[in-house]
Amino acid sequence: MVIEKICCLGAGYVGGPTCSVIALKCPNIQVTVCDKSVERINQWNSDKLPIYEPGLDDVVRQCRGRNLFFSTDIAKSIQEADLIFISVNTPTKTFGNGKGRAADLKYVESAARMIADLATSNKIVVEKSTVPVKAAEIIMKILRANTKPGVEYQILSNPEFLAEGTAIVDLVEAERVLIGGEDTVDGQKAIKELCWVYEHWIPAKNILTTNTWSSELSKLAANAFLAQRISSINSLSAVCEATGADVSEVARAVGRDSRIGPKFLEASIGFGGSCFQKDILNLIYLCECLNLPEVAAYWQQVLNLNDYQKARFTRKVIESLFNTVSDKKIAILGFSFKKNTGDTRESPAIHVSTTLLDEGAKLHIYDPKVEPDQIFYELTSPYVTSEPEKVKSNVEIHDTAYSAVTGAHAIVLCTEWDEFKMLDFKKIYEVMMKPAYIFDGRKILNHEALQNIGFHVQTIGKRLSRAGSIRAQGSQTMP
Ligand code: NAI
Repeated sequence: MVIEKICCLGAGYVGGPTCSVIALKCPNIQVTVCDKSVERINQWNSDKLPIYEPGLDDVVRQCRGRNLFFSTDIAKSIQEADLIFISVNTPTKTFGNGKGRAADLKYVESAARMIADLATSNKIVVEKSTVPVKAAEIIMKILRANTKPGVEYQILSNPEFLAEGTAIVDLVEAERVLIGGEDTVDGQKAIKELCWVYEHWIPAKNILTTNTWSSELSKLAANAFLAQRISSINSLSAVCEATGADVSEVARAVGRDSRIGPKFLEASIGFGGSCFQKDILNLIYLCECLNLPEVAAYWQQVLNLNDYQKARFTRKVIESLFNTVSDKKIAILGFSFKKNTGDTRESPAIHVSTTLLDEGAKLHIYDPKVEPDQIFYELTSPYVTSEPEKVKSNVEIHDTAYSAVTGAHAIVLCTEWDEFKMLDFKKIYEVMMKPAYIFDGRKILNHEALQNIGFHVQTIGKRLSRAGSIRAQGSQTMP
């Protein structure tokens, strides 16, 4: 089979960018990205795409209407396609068995059932969503139990390693593409077909092929290792604050060891995003189901440390502001879970904001790419508050950082957007209440310059002289 048409089920953060890049690099393949959400597809077909990702607009502009299409006509797209990516969401289960830990595979299952219902010719079905090990078996069982005469399926695992904020570069210059399949003649043939698609732009040496289960587990393992690095350096940031060591210096020294390497050693208020927490919970649940409680406990600690870090930072804000933020105006700079994305899923800013709101603060929030509705959605969700109306009355969203900080007692920087480094802090100091506090949760500002202006500054993993908090003045002990 030569792949001429690709269909992708799920037009989200993964399906959209991945298929746009495939369309860009494979002009001979027609790529249709489908979603059951009409609104999402309309946005993909408009000038304002549903997700912000540097470089994405350009790729979509080049390919849309040529060999890239966004459609809600799932039936037609499935029927025409030679290869189908399943790129639907796999959130953590919020009910029943495995609640709060297991991956909810209902969307993957419904995608498989749609394919089984609609397909009228042979298909290669590619599991791109992040799933627990053995999930491909579910897809296989559904498809093969519903096979029509003349229709055969091959199921591959092809997890996605892109990171939001750098998705286009990650896809165009992928360090590796991972493809897992069955160890049968037909399985190996299907792997070759998918390799052929990627070989349009990825050097063959960067394409790894494995069995299906190794491929599924490698995705969970990669995210667990990455999150573990963040939790490791964050754990040391607490030691630095307690001793006078500087976590940036420690990270630089440790990262010089080529066995360790310098990347992903940036201490912060903790990791967020839709994947790390979800995928590690998924791994933990898998370990428990496999009766491996020690392994489960090991990975659970990576998540515990992340919760500790978010709570520790917020506690520091409150303690520094004389142990009360009630009715104080606090500016939150940045709400997305990291820079260069508008995605707020599991953003540490949610934890920080919610805790400050619980303590009676008035929040003034600014983020360059997150829509106001999205911020209200996160802060009024039943998971974080039972009083959504009260939250709404205590939160104001701003369209510039300067308007958010006017009259504020403190600035809490939650996301490392580059534009925050360029702010005129002299001007900001003038319009803030005094003493004026800045809590730099991402270690991106020039702390000395801020102190020279007159700010009281606190950050992660470093004790600043003249921090000016009651804690720094010795009336409280470090946690
Ligand atoms: P998302 O929530 O942004 O997008 C998923 C889309 O699938 C939604 O628009 C939803 O309406 C659609 N959908 C659900 N069921 C459908 C069906 N039966 N037919 C058609 N459309 C359907 O999710 P996102 O972030 O794109 O993640 C997708 C998968 O990729 C998840 O398993 C995730 O863990 C994984 N992943 C995510 C990464 C990220 O950075 N967001 C990176 C790597 C993997």
